[in-house]
Amino acid sequence: MIIDDSDQSIRRAVEVLRAGGLVAVPTETVYGLAADASDPAAVSRVFTTKGRPPAHPLIVHLGRSARLEDWAVHVPDDARRLADAFWPGPLSMVLARHPAVSSIVTGGRDTVALRMPAHPVALRLLDAFGGGLAAPSANRFGRVSPTTAVDVQADLGDDVDLIIDGGPCEIGVESTIVELVESSDGSPPVVTILRSGAVSPEEVATVLDRPVSSTPSGPPRAPGMLATHYAPLTPLELWEPSAEGEAIARAAALAAVGQRVGLLALTKVDAPGEVVVWDAGGDEAVLARSLYRWLRRAEAEGLDALLVVLPPPQGISLAVRDRLRRAAAR
Ligand code: TXA
Ligand code: MG
Repeated sequence: MIIDDSDQSIRRAVEVLRAGGLVAVPTETVYGLAADASDPAAVSRVFTTKGRPPAHPLIVHLGRSARLEDWAVHVPDDARRLADAFWPGPLSMVLARHPAVSSIVTGGRDTVALRMPAHPVALRLLDAFGGGLAAPSANRFGRVSPTTAVDVQADLGDDVDLIIDGGPCEIGVESTIVELVESSDGSPPVVTILRSGAVSPEEVATVLDRPVSSTPSGPPRAPGMLATHYAPLTPLELWEPSAEGEAIARAAALAAVGQRVGLLALTKVDAPGEVVVWDAGGDEAVLARSLYRWLRRAEAEGLDALLVVLPPPQGISLAVRDRLRRAAAR
């Protein structure tokens, strides 16, 4: 059920969470499906509701009075610097897990992902609740993340006890995930960007005053970051900005054989009238904010294909390109 973001609603949501229920919460990135992080049964419900494999860990969301030491051990100075610079905000930090954190939350790992969201409603809820909220994006496993309360309702229906409507998400793509692994020789931790988001690798490097790696080597360290993620049912085709002409020609060719085709681009493109054209008016932030809405619309309107002219690889568009690649790989 969708409820407003009044103080009364927040109180009701706190009661539901304390009783082990699930509440969908607006954040500045996407809507989250929240459970009391200290209640293993409630956290288990998050996994079953999403259809998410138990080995895919959840991010714990913290309020303004939370202390990192209650959730993580060996917290490096770098983590405090990043929290000071970017919290509340779209940055999740993977740190060594405090023994008190349930291994159900962390998918059995010895690390935990932590984030303080910048959405006023999420912060009011977290502050009123007092504890941490384990929350993945509020969509079924492998599907497009929700950026409105109505998206959550459409995807999860009555499987979620309450959905707090905090309006459309400002950023629209999931948080940047940074892993900070303490090295055994006492040197500063290795810093790796596991997932791109609104906080760029350059911004992280600037705050830490040293380089960060954004291509994790070895086996995937953020399980859930599989190629099959964020996928609409509509087949996607991606084109680099330099190949915009080819994308338009391809759209025209598909439309000519009777297909319903969509063309999504950062800036307005000239395509034949039969092609459904969506553009972000040249604004990268608008493209990120509206990306999942367009993917959902492509599905809802039953398009046979959505062709996307990718934005140039910079800033928030790095995250947009990343999500589109994963969505196209299904
Ligand atoms: O913006 C966001 O981060 C949103 C909002 C709701 O906060 N949440 C979100 O959650 O995107 P989810 O579950 O859809 O994605 C969480 C990602 C997964 O890729 C997971 O593998 C990674 O975080 N993650 C969580 N804990 C981890 C850990 N201990 N080590 C490595 N990756 C972890
Ligand atoms: Mg997700």
